[in-house]
Amino acid sequence: MHNLDEKTITEAVVARQANATDPRLKEIMNSLVRHLHSFAREVQLTEPEWMAAIRFLTEVGHSCSDSRQEFILLSDTLGLSTLVTAQNHRKPAGCTEATVFGPFHVEGAPHYALGDDIGNGMKGEPCFVSGRVVGIDGQGVPNATLEVWQADAEGLYDVQNPDLKEHQGRGVLNADARGNFHFRSIVAECYPIPHDGPVGRMLDALGRHPWRPAHLHFMITAPGFERLVTHVFRRGGDYLDSDTVFGVRSSLIADWVRHPAGMGPDGKRCDKPFYTLDFDFVLNPVSGN
Ligand code: BEZ
Ligand code: FE
Repeated sequence: MHNLDEKTITEAVVARQANATDPRLKEIMNSLVRHLHSFAREVQLTEPEWMAAIRFLTEVGHSCSDSRQEFILLSDTLGLSTLVTAQNHRKPAGCTEATVFGPFHVEGAPHYALGDDIGNGMKGEPCFVSGRVVGIDGQGVPNATLEVWQADAEGLYDVQNPDLKEHQGRGVLNADARGNFHFRSIVAECYPIPHDGPVGRMLDALGRHPWRPAHLHFMITAPGFERLVTHVFRRGGDYLDSDTVFGVRSSLIADWVRHPAGMGPDGKRCDKPFYTLDFDFVLNPVSGN
């Protein structure tokens, strides 16, 4: 194929991919090429702009390490993560909504018994979290596994803050035979996503802030139910209407209730004010159940 021009180049690339053996890969790459070319035509992309994009993506790659995933930050801040989550987790009314996974989940978090402190000594205002994992029928899901992770009072995860020990602010628990769970941690605060790299500069250039509203992350699994990856957001906090990664769902906003110093829900005296959060999760049965 010779003499390709701005009108014929797109279908020439698609034709060159005709022998791809994986039909899904072929579908995705043909669509990607068509959309990418349409975009370049629509904005009449210049050569310096094309080069700036290449440099930007190169920097995004160079910013990735074992503890930093700049491509996920890019996907999150462009709303792609929320779109992919939404179209892959359509659920019947009444189920707890899913939201973005984020880059701070870590495999191998420690297992805790109900009532334990998943903060694992992390400093902050004490918070007692409780709730129930149920199915759409309202029946408790026995022994559901809950993985919880959260940032510290300064808005940093253990993997970001050298002052924290490994696995502070994250843990795995099993609900009891009726689906009830409770654990202790600290109050979640709002925090900026890592913004000292190319994604932060992109946000700046677009007049956007890097902040997320205060939240706890949950990943809940149980046999016979779809895995739920979600957050619980703190009502009344900042940035609920402008989460930089577009993850807030109204149904996931809950009250962190403040209590004066005194007897905590664990039956022990708490010598400073503490908070309680009560939130139930409704799991979606896997299809066929
Ligand atoms: C988080 O909530 O941990 C998160 C989500 C998206 C980007 C950065 C952080
Ligand atoms: Fe987070």
